[in-house]
Amino acid sequence: MPLMEKAYKSALKPMLFRFDPELVHHHFVNLGESMGRTAAGRRLIAAMYDYRGPDISRTVDGVTYRTPVILAAGFDYNARLTQILASVGFGGVEVGSVTAYPCPGNEPPRLRRAVQSKSLIVYKGLRNEGVDQIIDRLRRRGVQQGLVLGISIAMTNAESSATLEGAVDDYYQSFKKLNEARIGDYYTINISCPNVYGGESFTDPTRLKALLEKLDEVECRVPRYTKMPISLEWEQFRELLDLLQDFGIDGVVVGNLQKDYDELDVRREAPEEYRGGLSGKPCREASTQLIRKTREHCGPEFTIMGCGGVMSPADALEKLDAGADLIQLISGMIFEGPHLMRDIAWAIAERHLDV
Ligand SMILES: Cc1cc2nc3c(=O)[nH]c(=O)nc-3n(C[C@H](O)[C@H](O)[C@H](O)COP(=O)(O)O)c2cc1C
Repeated sequence: MPLMEKAYKSALKPMLFRFDPELVHHHFVNLGESMGRTAAGRRLIAAMYDYRGPDISRTVDGVTYRTPVILAAGFDYNARLTQILASVGFGGVEVGSVTAYPCPGNEPPRLRRAVQSKSLIVYKGLRNEGVDQIIDRLRRRGVQQGLVLGISIAMTNAESSATLEGAVDDYYQSFKKLNEARIGDYYTINISCPNVYGGESFTDPTRLKALLEKLDEVECRVPRYTKMPISLEWEQFRELLDLLQDFGIDGVVVGNLQKDYDELDVRREAPEEYRGGLSGKPCREASTQLIRKTREHCGPEFTIMGCGGVMSPADALEKLDAGADLIQLISGMIFEGPHLMRDIAWAIAERHLDV
């Protein structure tokens, strides 16, 4: 086992996994943020984790990714790591999901580990500082060279957004402000967060249409994607895809958290009653199948970001083979270690060399 992997799996991870996951996340973000502040910090991290192999960059919808691996939405939800993530091999980050108003999220515990099932039980409820604060931070700090900045937009998790009008307006406010500030290389409209007031309300075609009509009022110069649920039947999923294509949406992230607890390897690792979506391994199969069907249905021009259960280079290649243009991940980095992004990049490079 290579050195950095061994250090993570046999020393760091067993220690970190003894503490509350949200607390560990908090300390990691603090550490990453301070390492990103100095060139020396960035160099040190890059020496340990960056990918330095043959060119595997990809240009998708006019945006060039140095590596096709993106940190999925929900890890850097307040945009505090945009100076360091390229040093750990990421080609992009999707910050957020951001909402029109600051949002404390659901009552804790908001995050639990299902260790044997390689999954996190996520009940964050869109905790974030709100779009104004996030725009301000990104303006002050900028983004590390070589890192694509995606921004995920959702609706504030509050009663005021529980009506259709209130919810649409919430997305609209964030989308408008970000576009006016010209911040972000692409935007993802998160229609599928399972942990908000009223549930996944924009996976209903009528409501989604109302949202897309409103967002069309904003002039947008960068690609627009949509974050899809993975727990829908294909017929319903396809209906959403057709609508997105009618509105000129450039692609989809497939997909969000798994809602079915029977997908856990060890069912008793989750509570009896639903208490948040599952990340990691329980998402893998459903997301890969939907990627394959989406590619078949939507053709080669429609962008697909493959997300859900990428725990190894083989999982990443599986998503690319199914039709994904780019990869997104969170849980693999937590369960396997921060060397995963570099290993994926090397697997892609080696495959290019084999051709
Ligand atoms: C702690 C955590 C918070 C998340 N928050 C968001 C979010 O705010 N917006 C979003 O679109 N997805 C969110 N997600 C879902 C991830 O972006 C991703 O779709 C999911 O975790 C599957 O990828 P993974 O198996 O690589 O973790 C979150 C996931 C985790 C683990």
